[in-house]
Amino acid sequence: MRRLNVELAARSYPILIGRGLLGRAELLLDHLRSPRVALVSNVTVAPIYGNAFIKALEGVGVGVTAIILPDGEVYKTWESLNRIHDSLLAARCDRATTVVAIGGGVIGDLAGFAAATYQRGVPFIQIPTTLLSQVDSSVGGKTGINHARGKNMVGAFWQPQMVLADTDTLQTLPPRELSAGLAEVIKYGLIRDLPFLDWLETHMDGLMARDGDLLAEAVERSCANKAEVVAADEFETAKDGGRALLNLGHTFGHAIETGMGYGEWLHGEAVAAGTVMAAELSRRLGWIGQADVARIVVLLKRAELPVRGPELGADRYLELMSHDKKVIAGSLRLVLLRRLGDAVTSADAPREEIVAAIEACSHA
Ligand code: NAD
Ligand code: GLY
Repeated sequence: MRRLNVELAARSYPILIGRGLLGRAELLLDHLRSPRVALVSNVTVAPIYGNAFIKALEGVGVGVTAIILPDGEVYKTWESLNRIHDSLLAARCDRATTVVAIGGGVIGDLAGFAAATYQRGVPFIQIPTTLLSQVDSSVGGKTGINHARGKNMVGAFWQPQMVLADTDTLQTLPPRELSAGLAEVIKYGLIRDLPFLDWLETHMDGLMARDGDLLAEAVERSCANKAEVVAADEFETAKDGGRALLNLGHTFGHAIETGMGYGEWLHGEAVAAGTVMAAELSRRLGWIGQADVARIVVLLKRAELPVRGPELGADRYLELMSHDKKVIAGSLRLVLLRRLGDAVTSADAPREEIVAAIEACSHA
């Protein structure tokens, strides 16, 4: 088992990564305030992992209230949040009850927001079962739901007590979901870890073949990057860079997700196409070269990710991007690449260059 720590003073917590960890429910015991949990999952993950994990928890003396939601990004809504709150109240869960999320990023974000808001906040544990959630969404405390006008527009920062990532769960992921997770893995290499980018280029075939050791290493190196960034800028308030850099490709990507209708493009797929747009814009600003853009495109293609966005029209992209959470005082800050392995936030990209990058990287 590999162990990392997210250093946030009194709210620090461990990330445990390894194979077979779902069989070790006792790992949670030191992180529970009382022997009572509300386990939130969905109709896909509960039969594969959730039900067995409930039995394992009961086996170590923990009482479980199971809350099973429908599956999909379209359910990352106010209604699902209400449903969790209703179930917590119906089961008389108290302030010492820990909400445990077992599933992908949708379940983690929803359950985390429910934990942040139920009785003004109860403890929370993340058990991510997709690659994307193991390398990104389970770490760092961003929780929330979507709004018809924009992704993740309602939510809270609420750090978990621990993250338990069993990398064996990645063996049952649909291929499209594995690829979507790799988009966020590649992101760490591009924004701050050039040796990791080189490593990914060497091992992409093994990762796509789901080599267990390679997947565990990719999760660990991604989480190590994320933990460092979050520890330095937990609430994304740094003026330049900081946590906002984790959003490389996301402003374009969120426009794709919202513009196409939630669930049509997977989050990671939209991030992949958005990353190419951000790279192309960086090239147009003279920061990176054509060969760098090509290197990014080749790696994303090897991960079977889309490298062009849908044809929404540049005006529609810009309209959707204007709702981004990185817009401050009307000014859109984009994450761009100064070099491979070195990202910056910039509010200075001329509109015509943004339009040109979108048009060059979306389907005609
Ligand atoms: P997801 O939660 O929809 O899961 C993808 C699919 O895989 C679902 O159908 C799910 O039921 C299924 N699944 C999950 N684990 C499985 C397994 N082991 N085997 C088989 N099927 C499995 O999608 P995701 O990519 O995990 O998460 C995307 C969400 O995460 C988006 O809503 C995005 O906004 C959010 N996100 C949040 C953060 C954050 O910091 N909080 C960061 C990145 C993304
Ligand atoms: N996924 C971006 C962040 O956690 O900040």
